[in-house]
Amino acid sequence: MQTEVIVVAAGSGSRMGSAMKKQYLPLDGAPILVRTLQTLAACPTVDRIVLVVAGDDVQFVTELIEAYHLHKIGDVVYGGMERQDSVRNGIAALRHDTEVVAVHDAARPLVTADEVEAVLTAAKLFGAATLGVPVKDTIKRVDQGQVRETLQRSDLWAVHTPQAFKCEWLAEAHMRAWEQGYFGTDDASLVEWAGYPVTMVEGRYSNLKVTTPEDLVIAEALWKQRKG
Ligand code: CTP
Ligand code: MG
Repeated sequence: MQTEVIVVAAGSGSRMGSAMKKQYLPLDGAPILVRTLQTLAACPTVDRIVLVVAGDDVQFVTELIEAYHLHKIGDVVYGGMERQDSVRNGIAALRHDTEVVAVHDAARPLVTADEVEAVLTAAKLFGAATLGVPVKDTIKRVDQGQVRETLQRSDLWAVHTPQAFKCEWLAEAHMRAWEQGYFGTDDASLVEWAGYPVTMVEGRYSNLKVTTPEDLVIAEALWKQRKG
């Protein structure tokens, strides 16, 4: 069964506020994107990676692939305005015989091979799956500075990537979302909206998305601790 991973790395990293885009910032000496790609390439189930980057970064990323001897990179394609557009461009570059596809944020370099394998296995069994963790904080809905609602914490999970799907489900959900102007902040929400069930696979709190400067400090500490 052919399995591909779309790695989205075409964001501008505005919340990080760094001169260099966050996916290229170093994590223990190598770019975050490189750390992410190395882990994915080391997963036995992953056959091929489609990498989505900003048009201006293609040359630089091609050099990174050579310099770090990165394996399994099939295509490097251009991203779009929103993450959803970048994933759609990645879907267009998938091979026709691919049955299962995972989508992963380049900005999650701490994902582990066993997490990737777990979500791929669940997608093969059930059609769609996402990694996630139970939320630790109480979550409230706030509008104009006023608390409107306190949500039941025991029902809430923070969603990570990779998220993995039967290829047809993801492609159909993205196509319909694009046609009908539906917007979601992750791929599972599009697949849910398209009417398919999504299985939650419990991951680790360490699989954080490097989003703001403090995340980088935590990610670096976790990475070094893992190295021992
Ligand atoms: N991404 C992408 N194309 C976009 C926007 C985001 O490929 N148009 C990617 C990012 O590179 C990142 C992942 O999607 O790996 C998750 O997005 P996020 O953490 O929001 O990254 P950015 O959009 O770059 O950051 P920000 O929202 O702070 O600008
Ligand atoms: Mg973003």
